[in-house]
Amino acid sequence: MSRAAKFKAALAVDELTERQARAEHKRLSDEIALHDKLYYEKDAPEISDADYDRLRQRLKAIEDRFPQFVDMFSPTQRVGTTPTTAFAKVRHARPMLSLDNAFTDEELQGFFDRVRRGLERETDLKPDEEIAFNCEPKIDGLSISLRYEDGEFIVGATRGDGTTGEDVTANLRTVEDIPHRLKGKAPRVVDVRGEVYMERQAFEEMNRRQEAAGEKTFANPRNAAAGSLRQLDASITATRPLRFFAYAWGEAEPRSWKTHSEYLKVLRSWGFRVNPLSHLCRTPEEVRAFYRKMSAERPSLPYDIDGVVYKVDRIDWQDQLGFVSRAPRWAIAHKFPAEQARTRLNGILIQVGRTGALTPVADLEPVNVGGVMVARATLHNADEIERLDVRAGDMVIVQRAGDVIPQVLGYVPEQRPKGAHKYHFPTHCPCPLKTRVQSEEGGVVRRCSGGLECPFQQVERLRHFVSRNCFDIDGLGGTHIENFFNDGLLKVPGDIFRLHEKEREIKKREGWGEISVRNLLAAIEARRTISLDRFINAIGIPLIGEATAKILAQEYGDGDAWLDEMLAAARERKKAPDAVKKEKAAVEVGPSYGRLCNVEQIGVTTADAMCAFFNEGHNVEIIRDLRRQLTVEGVARRAIAADAPLRDKTVVFTGELSTMTRDEAKARAEELGAKVTDSVSKKTSLVVVGENAGSKARKATELGIQTMTEDEWVKLSS
Ligand code: IVH
Repeated sequence: MSRAAKFKAALAVDELTERQARAEHKRLSDEIALHDKLYYEKDAPEISDADYDRLRQRLKAIEDRFPQFVDMFSPTQRVGTTPTTAFAKVRHARPMLSLDNAFTDEELQGFFDRVRRGLERETDLKPDEEIAFNCEPKIDGLSISLRYEDGEFIVGATRGDGTTGEDVTANLRTVEDIPHRLKGKAPRVVDVRGEVYMERQAFEEMNRRQEAAGEKTFANPRNAAAGSLRQLDASITATRPLRFFAYAWGEAEPRSWKTHSEYLKVLRSWGFRVNPLSHLCRTPEEVRAFYRKMSAERPSLPYDIDGVVYKVDRIDWQDQLGFVSRAPRWAIAHKFPAEQARTRLNGILIQVGRTGALTPVADLEPVNVGGVMVARATLHNADEIERLDVRAGDMVIVQRAGDVIPQVLGYVPEQRPKGAHKYHFPTHCPCPLKTRVQSEEGGVVRRCSGGLECPFQQVERLRHFVSRNCFDIDGLGGTHIENFFNDGLLKVPGDIFRLHEKEREIKKREGWGEISVRNLLAAIEARRTISLDRFINAIGIPLIGEATAKILAQEYGDGDAWLDEMLAAARERKKAPDAVKKEKAAVEVGPSYGRLCNVEQIGVTTADAMCAFFNEGHNVEIIRDLRRQLTVEGVARRAIAADAPLRDKTVVFTGELSTMTRDEAKARAEELGAKVTDSVSKKTSLVVVGENAGSKARKATELGIQTMTEDEWVKLSS
């Protein structure tokens, strides 16, 4: 068997021995169960529907050949869980718009001025005539559109890109605040719009339930509402405490209301909840008073709001003002500033990241910042501490905005304790190796130089390996990795896949029972097959994150090809270590290095960091160890028809195209069987030259490669 085939591990079903088939049946069943869970419960599918279908087909083929394997637990015997394709798309009858934001009083005044000027221009508004605004809390949830025809709820959709959303009708039917039928006299058609959200308390209770059941928890009520609404199984949505406030409309025929405030009354008469805090303000002063009132009430509201929304009340005036890009000129969101609080800085801790970077962290006396307890805040780096001049014992101001990590803004000079010492960044790493701290990148980042030997970095690398976007191993999060590492159960990533050999030992540990150990080992087993991009991301190569890992997986296709190429590039670079430009990399360093440098988003700096990584024997050993235990699934390459017109051809597009985007041109070339690359080399078959093309067009001529204009390309490709 070739190495590539082994990497993909896909023997034809009729070649399997019974023993192999049994193992494969188990592996596939576990994998399908995992993907079912990701799809139905976590709202986070990781494989395409086509790939999922392939898993099921293979399982079915095995069961057809070995019927003795079929039992009630087989995914083929479970009815009603076969995923439908994700949500259907719904085109909104009227686009769902967004709102412009105002953060400061000047920005708000600008809005009032624009509205007045606009109305004076478009209508006969008098200079002293009042413009009434309807003011509403801006709920931090997600907006949806509900279509009612002759009073009957027909279809409900998420906002999506504003033009097209997702059909979540079945889920919305489970939300109590959404009437299935409008009360009273209903128009022929109306899209009622508003916000689906979750109350804070209900959110916390739900998270506690989820946690107790070993299920995913959510970071905040907004994410929880979004995740709950996008369930493929409406019976799950039904168990989630979703609420709905109505506040807008899309298509409405006929329309009986002339002002926004009238519409809110109509909504109530139809049976909707309308935010009781909504209020009609007649002057900018009243609007400002409303903002102050909401700011003060915000902490005691049962739900999160991130500002207030002001809407010109008269609809004829709204129509006169119209829209600019995707936001109405007649409305604005007046956002609240980030939440702040004061607390004591107990000290400054140093965290060691997986690449050795040292990050100072403020150790705070726990404080409630806008409903969330904060005990730690990042101080970024030594320069930031210097700039803030915060000292242990200081009273500091902490800020939290949305999901971002809390920050320290500064200290309160009057409350600085006598004798507070200026902070000195440690000269030695707090890790057991106590290495001398190295400065790099212009002195901003400081690093532990212990590298692979540093136990702090090793733990962080393991943490990264099991994290959500990598191997996503449930049950190894939090402090488990660190504890396992300290007790010698884990040293390198490959040890995770040998943990089953230590089942007895784990069971003896405090807090680990029969079930939790079984769940952990099952979670690990389910990850013995992993996609190439996750594998690359998990290894923790410097500068390679999730997005670049995906690009690399696309470029190299399968695990063996990728690893061979990385090792080759690293060897080439070792032999030719001088500075090099991306365009010359292939010639001056070598073909594998050149290819790597030319991968989208890579370039020489990243390629060099990767080469340094692959020139480190220990890193390669970690990968080899993993490969012995895992099946790394490559990226399915498109099957190219034998008669595809550009089969085996390499095409380069250069210069500006006028009738299509670069991506469209690329997609069309690929449809025709071509490989599209960014740089011109001897291997290039065709260069399509747009306007203002430069060196690539010249190089093509020099190398005698066929070129064509955009017009010629259009003719050829259509
Ligand atoms: S009106 C054409 N009213 O804010 C106006 N939006 O930043 C459409 N939102 O996507 C929106 N509370 O999700 C409006 N009372 C309220 C709102 C509100 C929350 C959200 C909504 C929208 C976003 C715009």
